[in-house]
Parts: sequence; structure tokens; C-alpha cells
Amino acid sequence: MSEKKRKVILTGDRPTGRLHIGHYVGSLRERVVLQNSGAFDDVLIMIADAQALTDNWDNPEKVRSNIMNVTLDYLSAGIDPKKSHILIQSQIPELPELTQYYMNLVTVQRLQRNPTVKAEIKLRGFSEHEESQGTPVGFFCYPISQAADITAFRATVVPAGEDQEPMVEQTREIVRKFNSIYGETLVEPEILLPKSAASRRLPGTDGKAKMSKSLGNCIYLSDDEKTVKTKVMSMFTDPGHLKVSDPGKTEGNPVFIYLEAFAGEDAPNAKQLFEEYAPDYQNLSEMEEHYRRGGLGDVKVKKFLNNVLEEALRPIRARRAEYEKDLQSVIEILKDGTKYAEDIAAQTLSDVKKSMQINYFSA
Ligand code: TRP
Repeated sequence: MSEKKRKVILTGDRPTGRLHIGHYVGSLRERVVLQNSGAFDDVLIMIADAQALTDNWDNPEKVRSNIMNVTLDYLSAGIDPKKSHILIQSQIPELPELTQYYMNLVTVQRLQRNPTVKAEIKLRGFSEHEESQGTPVGFFCYPISQAADITAFRATVVPAGEDQEPMVEQTREIVRKFNSIYGETLVEPEILLPKSAASRRLPGTDGKAKMSKSLGNCIYLSDDEKTVKTKVMSMFTDPGHLKVSDPGKTEGNPVFIYLEAFAGEDAPNAKQLFEEYAPDYQNLSEMEEHYRRGGLGDVKVKKFLNNVLEEALRPIRARRAEYEKDLQSVIEILKDGTKYAEDIAAQTLSDVKKSMQINYFSA
């Protein structure tokens, strides 16, 4: 059973919009580092279109068109199709089949306690107290389908944002229950969260808790230089910091939270960024201290942030331009990645059916 010891990464995103810098620091940047580390036997990145349909069933065009957007975001962020496999969830029929068997191992009450699902039900107006028709069963069960995603590819590590913790925990419970009833078959995964709180949850440019397309407070990986600059220069900061000489607050200040994510401890190039664009400071804490003391203006900090973001976004834009010239090759990347992933899922499903004693026509 040396197969069990393979180190496998699975992550994914719902294709419901272009990816923004919150996705980048929350998981995309780390995926590229892990991919290039050579420490993993397999890196799989899934476009979760079937999951996206659980709350966008009435908008198939949106899901379809964003498959290409998200794939271009991945490739331009540095996902290398020679090292990672990008796959499309709905094209792997083994996933819903596994989901069906896992459904027996999860109670309605357990699903109702999932904090991410709870918050989403509220946000989407699915609750029975609201005008909607209630919660669609497919949506309600998506944590089980996500457990199928993770276990089908025998993922050991799931790099994701903290909102995915309940999904990975649910998966671990299913794995333990499955293995204890039917015998050792599935692999238990672990979540890998970004180090800094800033990277775990980047607020919107307006300071609201989350970047969200509907709030119009996102900086997208595909934004051009001018758009990024306009967005950065109009970002919220500390409302009490009126004059340059006033002491300012750095906690809860979105400009400093972005700097923490892009020029703080999670940023591999933090030192160079200060040397090049803010040589008066050795690191972010020194700049923060100056702001808190007073005497450091918002415009100056925002200009630094804009340079810092451009340093990350420039290579991303260049790679995007290359891939956009040959979209057919991007489709081939998706096809190859999906085929590769399906072979693994088929093997897992066959193991699962054997353990469950439903392998009547094969040994
Ligand atoms: N739920 C994830 C999100 O909303 C997407 C997802 C689906 C996923 N299946 C996954 C992430 C498996 C990691 C592993 O972003």
C-alpha cells in the first residue's frame, strides 16, 4: 500500500467570476510555490463547475464562460501545465458516484451545522423564512460532493482559504467513517491555510470584510495597470487620519492589510520591494510604525502599495497575453488534465466499490 504515501495536492475554485488578488494571496500564490517545490507527487487543480451550478443552476452561461476566465487566471498566475493538472469537475462522472455512497455516511443535522454552508444559505436568501423557495438539495449537499472531489484524487493536502475548513473537516469525518465501516480505503486530507491573517482574508478596497464582485470592491488579476492604480488610489484607509502629521491606525486599515499580504511575511520578495520602492524602511513594521506615529501620508503609502501590486501583477499580465493568443492550447490543457484526473478517480471508485462489496462483475 505504498500508494497511500503519495503526497497529493487538490485545490479548486468555482467558476463564477474572474479571480481577484484575494484569491491570489489566499491560495493561488501558495499553489504555485507548492507546484514548484517538487515535494508533491501530484498537483491537481479543479474547476468546480458542478459545485458552481448548485447555486447558479439558472445561469449556465455564467458558469460556462468563466471556465476559460478561471483557467487563464490559473495559467497566468504561474500554474504550469507541465507540473500541475487542471481539470473540470463535471466531466468526471466518478465524482457524483462517490458522492452518492458518501451521502449514507452524513446526517442532515451534520450538514446543517456547517458554518460556511449556513452563511451561504443566508447570503443567497435560501432560508425558508425568506421569499425564496428554500434551500436546493444539491446546494445543501455540496460539502459531500466536495469530499468526493478530495478523496477521489487521494489528496493529502488541500491549500485553501479558511472558509474551506469545514469542508475539509467534513471530508475527514467521511473518510474515517468509511474506513471504519468498509475497511481502510480512503486517504485523510489536511487543509493548508495561508500564514498571515491578511492573506487568509483580504478585505475589499472599500474595507468591507470580503472582496466580492457584487460589492464592486475587487482588484482582479486581469485588471490593467491603469485600473489597478485608480482602485488603489481610491482605497479606504483610516478615516481619522486627516492630515499627514496625524497619527494613523494600521489595524483594520485595508491599505496596510494589503501590504501585509503582498509585502509582509507571506511575500517571498518583501525585502526587494522595500529596497526598490520604499528604501526609507527595512520592512513593513518600520513603515507601520511611522504611520502610527504620524508624518506618513496616505498617498505615499498607496503609491508604494501600487508598486508592490504591480510587481506581482506584471508577470501575470504578460503570461495571460501569451495564453490568450492560443486559446485552443488552453482547451487542450483542460482536456489532458481532466483525462489524467479521471483515471485516478476511476481507480478510487473501483477500490470504494470493492470495499463496499458492490463489485459483482469484477473480482
Ligand atoms: N468550495 C471551493 C470554493 O468555493 C471549491 C472547491 C470545490 C474545492 N471542490 C474543492 C476546493 C476541492 C478545494 C478542494 O472555492
